[in-house]
Amino acid sequence: STTQTGDKYGRPLRDLRVSVTDRCNFRCVYCMPKEIFNKDYRFLPRSELLTFEEIEQVVRASAELGVSKIRLTGGEPLVRRDLERLISQIRAVPGITDISMTTNASLLTRARAQSLRDAGLQRLNVSLDAMDDATFMKVNDVDVTVQAVLDGIENAAQVNFESIKINMVVKKGLNDHSILPMAHFFHGSGQILRFIEFMDVGNSNAWDLSHVTSSSEIAEIINAELPIQPAEANYRGEVAKRWEYRDGGGEIGIISSVSEPFCGDCSRARLSATGSLYTCLFASGGHDLRPALREGTPTAVREQLHKLWSVRADRYSETRTQTSVIHMRPKVEMSFIGG
Ligand code: GTP
Ligand code: 5AD
Ligand code: SF4
Ligand code: SF4
Repeated sequence: STTQTGDKYGRPLRDLRVSVTDRCNFRCVYCMPKEIFNKDYRFLPRSELLTFEEIEQVVRASAELGVSKIRLTGGEPLVRRDLERLISQIRAVPGITDISMTTNASLLTRARAQSLRDAGLQRLNVSLDAMDDATFMKVNDVDVTVQAVLDGIENAAQVNFESIKINMVVKKGLNDHSILPMAHFFHGSGQILRFIEFMDVGNSNAWDLSHVTSSSEIAEIINAELPIQPAEANYRGEVAKRWEYRDGGGEIGIISSVSEPFCGDCSRARLSATGSLYTCLFASGGHDLRPALREGTPTAVREQLHKLWSVRADRYSETRTQTSVIHMRPKVEMSFIGG
């Protein structure tokens, strides 16, 4: 039976974002800059990662509390071996109706796409920040070409995911000149391009408001060349604001965590690869679920999740400009919690 649960602001728990690894084959300058994520960086040893059985237990407990959407993230989720097995396990949990993954797609061969789809992965969100190699390589910092990611997207398209979205983080001065080339490329493709305001996540990306191209600027840039009109949200609390091309070329999304925060409807919890629950992307700390997991029954985990969610009062994005203290405390790294 499902026990619905609301937090301090009455927000239900609906989505669980599961990080399966803190590792990634990219070194995006805004996420895992090489100065920090180099050979001296201490990534999690295998022994500290939750097993698939443990992840499944957390999913089961969260489903009993009302979660229906699961998103797999990393780091880069595809560097974790045997992900298909985890997906089938999650698929079998009653109440879970949507399983998706956020990936850089560089490791997405046709065979891998097929096996992920067969295991029950329904939707895919692919990160791609530019259409030209010079810019894209400057972003990923490991010389991966645009074509490598487009190949991954094409492989995904061939195995009929329910949806494929493309995520472009816009950092002013780095890749904002790619907004229009990206829009043109995905216009009419059936794939939904989403522009993401550069956020002050983690402690290592040297975020500064001057690096943010706001959602209204992004919309204006596109509208000037490819006219768009606002579209209805698919559901309450949808992260991206939808726009549709007036010429029937499909839709785009804009994710305005900075200029128009969406904490009011935030129904997302995040599980780290080590088994800590974060009630906000910008939380400085998580809550260790492993002791409850070790009891071996879903009850202990469910009770802990219920307790954590009922006291939740996070709304970081709505307060970031008001509170200066909040900027001083350490935040969890994006690559650790998966965005
Ligand atoms: P859909 O279910 O396809 O709508 O996925 P999504 O947009 O929620 O997930 P995705 O991993 O593609 O995230 C896209 C961007 O939105 C990333 O930059 C995330 O970090 C950001 N994002 C997702 N959820 C939140 C959130 O709760 N708070 C903030 N501030 N940003 C978020
Ligand atoms: N601001 C906005 N989005 C970010 N992502 C990573 N770092 C940032 C940031 N600083 C995005 C990735 C991916 C998603 C999970 O989060 O590009 O699409
Ligand atoms: Fe890897 Fe995604 Fe971070 Fe880039 S943004 S370093 S692809 S986890
Ligand atoms: Fe949710 Fe925190 Fe993001 Fe606000 S900042 S939408 S509370 S995760």
